[in-house]
Amino acid sequence: MSSLRIRVGQGWDVHRIAQGRRLILGGVDIPSDFGLEGHSDADVLSHAITDAILGALALGDIGMHFPDTDPRWKGADSLVFLRHVCGLATEAGYEIVNVDSTVILERPKLKEFRLAIRTTLAEAMQLDLCQLSVKFKTAERVGPVGEGRSAESQAVVLLERL
Ligand code: C5P
Ligand code: MG
Repeated sequence: MSSLRIRVGQGWDVHRIAQGRRLILGGVDIPSDFGLEGHSDADVLSHAITDAILGALALGDIGMHFPDTDPRWKGADSLVFLRHVCGLATEAGYEIVNVDSTVILERPKLKEFRLAIRTTLAEAMQLDLCQLSVKFKTAERVGPVGEGRSAESQAVVLLERL
């Protein structure tokens, strides 16, 4: 695809908080009295990582590959998107060096789920745990995230030519 030895990508996503929905982050169902709104399972973390990989490959964005108007993706497990773009990276001749990510959510406390999320993502992406970092931040009660109206995620990924 290209002769570049390394490629970097970044991803960002936001979803509205909604009642009666599940809170799924990095493929892990987090116990919570609210969830995230979205066409798929609204896994804001998996979406940010998926976009980071697509960005590194210069292959567009998640909405181009998995339109939220397509009934196939209604309620979809977002790990399917992630596995797909990891396959695109392999096809393009790259491997993932590492992923760093942040979830910004006011509550619940997420740190006790860090290992479960890292393990689930690493397995979906066929990475070692040490290649996958997940961080959590509140928004200090400021703005839509801080007021409990939305959740955001950011991710960066480094690819290296195989
Ligand atoms: O946002 P703040 O810097 O106050 O977060 C402090 C710590 O709380 C973070 O480093 C993170 O480990 C944890 N945290 C969490 N769940 C959240 C937000 C933050 O476990 N939803
Ligand atoms: Mg999304």
